[in-house]
Amino acid sequence: MKKTIFHYNSKLLKVSQLAAIAVYDYIGKKDETSADRAAVESMRTELNKLDFNATIVIGEGERDKAPMLYIGEKVGNGSSKLNFDIALDPLEGTKITANNKKNALTVIAMGNKNSFLYAPDVYMEKIAVGPNLPNNFLDLDEPFENVIEKLAKLKKKSVSEIVVCVLDRPRHKNIFEVIKKKKCKKFLIPDGDIFGAVSTAIKKFNIDIYVGIGGAPEGVLAASVLKSLGGQMQCRLIFNNKSQEKRALKMGIRNLKKKYEIKDLIKQDSIFVATGVTNGYLLNGVKKNKKKFITHSLLVSSKSKKINFIKSEFKI
Ligand code: FBP
Repeated sequence: MKKTIFHYNSKLLKVSQLAAIAVYDYIGKKDETSADRAAVESMRTELNKLDFNATIVIGEGERDKAPMLYIGEKVGNGSSKLNFDIALDPLEGTKITANNKKNALTVIAMGNKNSFLYAPDVYMEKIAVGPNLPNNFLDLDEPFENVIEKLAKLKKKSVSEIVVCVLDRPRHKNIFEVIKKKKCKKFLIPDGDIFGAVSTAIKKFNIDIYVGIGGAPEGVLAASVLKSLGGQMQCRLIFNNKSQEKRALKMGIRNLKKKYEIKDLIKQDSIFVATGVTNGYLLNGVKKNKKKFITHSLLVSSKSKKINFIKSEFKI
């Protein structure tokens, strides 16, 4: 039987778990670069053991010159003819990790060739909601006040009950003003907007909408989960200079102002895995005692269409 991406669920899970364990010693050490490097090197080593040929199509590094698993890098041991695409953020929350704050994760997603948006590591405008809303509900160009009012109506809530998740950044001043004017509830996150977008599809967080500007890799990774769980997302890449624009054009992006729907971000089946590095809303962080590491992960695939939480132990 021909192997599909779903044969690699447990292998990708292990890649993400081992990366979290590799970062353990750097938690709270105020050294973002070393923490990031530990995750990157672990992921590269583990991915290169797997029997596939994969290309990193969404990665980290350009935006903040971090140690990279760079866009275009080939991974896998080359022993099979299977070609996959990988999107990853080896350490989502380098600053969080360095300061031992909440919500750092190791994250990886995989799909068949050409499954993910092929885009440079720039900023991205994002808006996301969970499942059970009418198709094409979101429009980045619609005044945010209107979006909130429509959402409240559809969710049979009052506008003041709507919970909006936003990254705590000065660039989101206009969003904060709308939240204040409409008396909505604000769920501010200091970092880590993969959680922000994904949270809209997980009931227990009671977050109705995620909005704001964050990294493009984080946007594509969150879209993998949201699409599998029936959520919606719209995004637009932000280019701050000519060299970013040139790079995007070289990567085949023709319309620099395009609004990407979730189906443009994730075009086919995908699997997504994240493991907690520090304790967070979504997952507990890596724990260590004399004999073992304990990890907490989640796996979401377009096959199962649900979240699987996985606790594992690794003997030392
Ligand atoms: P890192 O993985 O690079 O540490 O990113 C953390 C993060 O908070 C992302 O979740 C978010 O998309 C991005 O940074 C926002 O960028 P900035 O901190 O520059 O506003």
